[in-house]
Amino acid sequence: MVSGKALLLGVTLAASASAHCGRQTLKLATDAYISAQTNGRSTVLTNAFAAPNMTYTENDVPQNINTGVLMHPLNLAHNRSIIDAEECATFTELIVTDPSHPYVIGTRMVFANHGAKIVTIESIVTDKGDWAFNATGYMYWNSMETWDPIPAEKRDSRAVIKAAGDAYFNRWNDTSVEIPLGTPCARLEGGAYTGARNLTGNTCNLGGFPSNIVVTNRRYVVDEEMGVVVIFMGFPGLDRSVPQTPAPDSHMFRVQGGLVRYIHTVSACINDGCGMNGTGIPMRIKRRRTIRH
Ligand SMILES: *[C@@H]1O[C@H](CO)[C@@H](O)[C@H](O)[C@H]1NC(C)=O
Ligand SMILES: *[C@@H]1O[C@H](CO)[C@@H](O)[C@H](O)[C@H]1NC(C)=O
Ligand SMILES: *[C@@H]1O[C@H](CO)[C@@H](O)[C@H](O)[C@H]1NC(C)=O
Ligand SMILES: *[C@@H]1O[C@H](CO)[C@@H](O)[C@H](O)[C@H]1NC(C)=O
Ligand SMILES: *[C@@H]1O[C@H](CO)[C@@H](O)[C@H](O)[C@H]1NC(C)=O
Ligand SMILES: *[C@@H]1O[C@H](CO)[C@@H](O)[C@H](O)[C@H]1NC(C)=O
Repeated sequence: MVSGKALLLGVTLAASASAHCGRQTLKLATDAYISAQTNGRSTVLTNAFAAPNMTYTENDVPQNINTGVLMHPLNLAHNRSIIDAEECATFTELIVTDPSHPYVIGTRMVFANHGAKIVTIESIVTDKGDWAFNATGYMYWNSMETWDPIPAEKRDSRAVIKAAGDAYFNRWNDTSVEIPLGTPCARLEGGAYTGARNLTGNTCNLGGFPSNIVVTNRRYVVDEEMGVVVIFMGFPGLDRSVPQTPAPDSHMFRVQGGLVRYIHTVSACINDGCGMNGTGIPMRIKRRRTIRH
């Protein structure tokens, strides 16, 4: 007869095994995603990786993957993938500086079958008219940053990394929350950079935070090797023309020694310019979402 303890151990192992995905397995899928976007052929990704029930959204709107942005070949200036082996999810940051149609795209994928099949693809696809959009700026400031893997002995725990990102969004509804911001720390939003004036002295501090914005529907990708938590969420108040509507948004936090070092945002306006009338950060330029062939 198997002892109760051995039985319990077996259950624990089975449960954790089913919750884990190999980093290399997940990386195969992010590589396929990048290749699909480069070639403008969604099937480069979906033929091998799509689960029958896979869902696909762009800026929180369900869409046919075979008519979306993946069908347009894009000349990628930059790609970065974040791997969550524990929760079987990935995030990929893409920058396209091609003047014919620049983009910044953030894509989160969620996996089943130990990473063999994708069940969710959600992309925030930003271009002219979105929050602070400037792909050249995104590329430039990103190239000044260091995103090497964190040496094993210096890695923060998954809980610490995740809590740093959550604190940032909890702060929007609770003035007592302390965000563990490092110095230096810089935020890259659309292409605008808070570190532009002083790369070594910036703190990411937003100053006058509101206290009544509840950031909804958070979806995570956590990577201890990279010290990163990506949070997809709905951001009410980002688009001033519809302040109650949660805007499609991704924030990627790089955490080092428990402190936030970099924040990269991909924020889609619901209406061009986010209702800022050209007075604030967003670029009020007529959007050209449709691509000419
Ligand atoms: C993605 O980025 C890596 C470097 O991080 C580079 O080697 C590779 O060529 C890039 N892929 C594409 C399709 O641009
Ligand atoms: C979708 O398919 C995957 C793998 O084929 C499966 O693990 C998952 O439970 C399915 N999800 C739903 C909501 O049916
Ligand atoms: C975009 O960013 C680049 C690099 O920082 C900068 O030279 C350029 O002036 C920016 N463009 C706009 C419209 O702000
Ligand atoms: C937001 O803050 C209010 C006031 O402190 C609180 O009652 C509410 O529970 C908070 N909501 C969330 C989702 O944290
Ligand atoms: C940048 O910030 C650092 C740290 O606060 C400060 O020592 C330095 O003088 C600043 N440099 C400039 C050019 O303002
Ligand atoms: C933008 O303009 C509209 C119409 O004139 C006005 O109602 C709104 O308050 C303005 N918003 C901002 C952020 O200035």
